[in-house]
Amino acid sequence: RPKILRTVTSLRRTLEPYRRARQALALVPTMGALHEGHLKLVREARKKARRVVVSIFVNPTQFAPTEDFGSYPRTFDADVKALAALKVDAVWAPTAAEMYPEGFATRVAPEGAALAGLEDKFRPHFFGGVATVVTKLFTQVRPDIALFGQKDYQQLRVVTQMASDLDLGVKVIGIPTVREKDGLALSSRNVYLSEAERAAAPVLSRVLKACAARIKRGEPIEMVMEEGASEISRASFKLDYLEARHAKTLKPIASAKDGPIRLLVAAKIGKTRLIDNLGV
Ligand code: PAJ
Repeated sequence: RPKILRTVTSLRRTLEPYRRARQALALVPTMGALHEGHLKLVREARKKARRVVVSIFVNPTQFAPTEDFGSYPRTFDADVKALAALKVDAVWAPTAAEMYPEGFATRVAPEGAALAGLEDKFRPHFFGGVATVVTKLFTQVRPDIALFGQKDYQQLRVVTQMASDLDLGVKVIGIPTVREKDGLALSSRNVYLSEAERAAAPVLSRVLKACAARIKRGEPIEMVMEEGASEISRASFKLDYLEARHAKTLKPIASAKDGPIRLLVAAKIGKTRLIDNLGV
């Protein structure tokens, strides 16, 4: 079973022998409610490093007051069981008070991809909260590598840039999205979906795939995206965005010639907000 660590002191004490023995250390940051997408990151980590730490922390600073922090699924015992089966060395599960003690007064403010619209437009608090907590996780654990899912593509870009800009000494590795058979990207929030919503949800990945194929064939991006957007709206989703962006900078892109393209989508069905993305 992995060691379960709740304080920075006990974390440091546990990791110190690994460092002394010069064993490569991988970190997989999560908010728990683990599914096969998270476990894929852990399996990849196991392949790449001798020691693996998984963090489980539902980070309050990346949720707006109106969002689902209180109801976010928490399945700690099942999470630890799944991680034990994958031979994870340690689970870093700090309390909110350990992470953000009384008087905490510093934030990391990412720019670049974090200010490129998309998620930032709908969740303006989000990337500041993610950047701050991920910086803390990196400096607490000091891993050689950290694995993130392409599922949260803008987050992956922000964290990669931040690790480089702040010389955090961590190599950030992006792992392809794990999907259900019908294409729906696995997400801890999928448990919120009613049966009817779950049946409608694959429209997001289906539209991404269709749009990517059409853009590859040379059809004009603007028209393709407009038709994709109406298909999503017809499937009883309220669309936040469906956009073609530069895969690296996430800047708007007008023509396929202007670089590698990433298609990104976010939409609400009922009370649940889902995101997905695909490379062209
Ligand atoms: P969470 O949503 O728990 O996701 C943890 C990691 O799992 C992220 O890197 C995410 O991209 C990845 N992931 C989620 N679903 C996936 C899927 N279907 N396939 C592949 N990878 C998937 O993202 C966060 O937590 C938080 O913002 C965090 C980085 C932990 C900071 O609080």
